[in-house]
Amino acid sequence: MSHAADPTAFADIDVNARSRWWRRLPLVSFRIADVEIPNRYLLAPMCNVTNLPYRLLAREQGASLVSTEMLSSVALAVGGERSLQMMEFLPDEHPIMVQISGTDPEVMRRAAEMIQDYGATMINLNCGCPVKKIIKGGSGSALLRNPRLLRRILRALRPRLRIPLTVKMRAGWDEQSINAVEIARLCEDEGVDAIMLHPRTRRQMYDGQANLDLIACVKHAVRIPVIGNGDVFTAADAFDMLAATGCDAVMIGRGAIGNPWIFRQCVIEEVRRTHSSPNVLAALPSPHPSLDERLTMIRRHFDLLAAYTGEEIALRVFRRQLMAYLKGLPHSTTFRGHLPQLTSRHMFLERVEEYFRKIAQRDVGARDHAEAQMNGFTEKVG
Ligand SMILES: Cc1cc2nc3c(=O)[nH]c(=O)nc-3n(C[C@H](O)[C@H](O)[C@H](O)COP(=O)(O)O)c2cc1C
Repeated sequence: MSHAADPTAFADIDVNARSRWWRRLPLVSFRIADVEIPNRYLLAPMCNVTNLPYRLLAREQGASLVSTEMLSSVALAVGGERSLQMMEFLPDEHPIMVQISGTDPEVMRRAAEMIQDYGATMINLNCGCPVKKIIKGGSGSALLRNPRLLRRILRALRPRLRIPLTVKMRAGWDEQSINAVEIARLCEDEGVDAIMLHPRTRRQMYDGQANLDLIACVKHAVRIPVIGNGDVFTAADAFDMLAATGCDAVMIGRGAIGNPWIFRQCVIEEVRRTHSSPNVLAALPSPHPSLDERLTMIRRHFDLLAAYTGEEIALRVFRRQLMAYLKGLPHSTTFRGHLPQLTSRHMFLERVEEYFRKIAQRDVGARDHAEAQMNGFTEKVG
């Protein structure tokens, strides 16, 4: 840990011990090349979200394969501080995938070798990012329009890598050029070890729905593992995707923001669907977090982020995630009004704790009210 603001905060975290609860469960695993992925629920790479602190929390809750944010191969190859920090992971944070973007095969090879030497489990090539700044330079989803360049990149990377190489992509550039099947076949031919597919075009951005049929087509077209991605917001969505497409695993993005419990919910749902042993079922934790657990998670996430980036950046970056953590709770949208006041850790905790205290009281109030009604009911019938 050389790039964290406070590396001591990470020194004692035992990633394996914290994820032991789900690793012991009878879950379906799969392989990417020779790497065993211990369950089928993966954390999607997300800029400003899947940094080291959040990855630790997602893993504890059940995410099997986690990913860094997207790193520019150019920035990495020249040793850019921020990219080096984004590449960083804990020694036992495995399996982990480091994602790169770029267009220059030679620069990408250098970046990929750095990642391999650093000890990543696998590398992922971004062929899906729809953001203007990225596609303007020809990388991200623009590579879907340039299969010849994509092939050259893969040919530069593959022979130099001892670790698995995976590709994450979209359906195609636009409605008229959906080419996920062709691109997946090209990748397989060039020795790629797994495909991750978000079946929307670049033009769609997030419009419409993820096209599950396309995941099924890609799965049918190649023999390497295909990981489905897109619109998984609940455990039921994950099982629907697995069943509808035959994909090997699902990768969860937006559904995991402010909601690391989605991985726990998937894991628990799988055990419930496939095992009837009372001992196994009785040992499962509750799928849904209590208010206390939510608050503890928010505090821990924020403190880890502050230890990683420093308090000032953490306060800025955490706001959006905080709103996601509160989603669905009473009056959570009104909390948005407090966001500009969260200018220090002290203020942050004070406001968040006050909000949780209030809704806990409402909870108790609601329970008392329900009990009073119930007593009234029993008195009447008694
Ligand atoms: C905030 C945010 C940041 C993202 N950053 C990346 C990224 O760095 N690399 C990448 O391949 N995809 C990125 N994505 C796309 C997700 O990995 C995923 O493919 C997409 O959100 C669809 O999955 P979902 O419906 O589960 O969110 C990002 C998505 C979001 C919402």
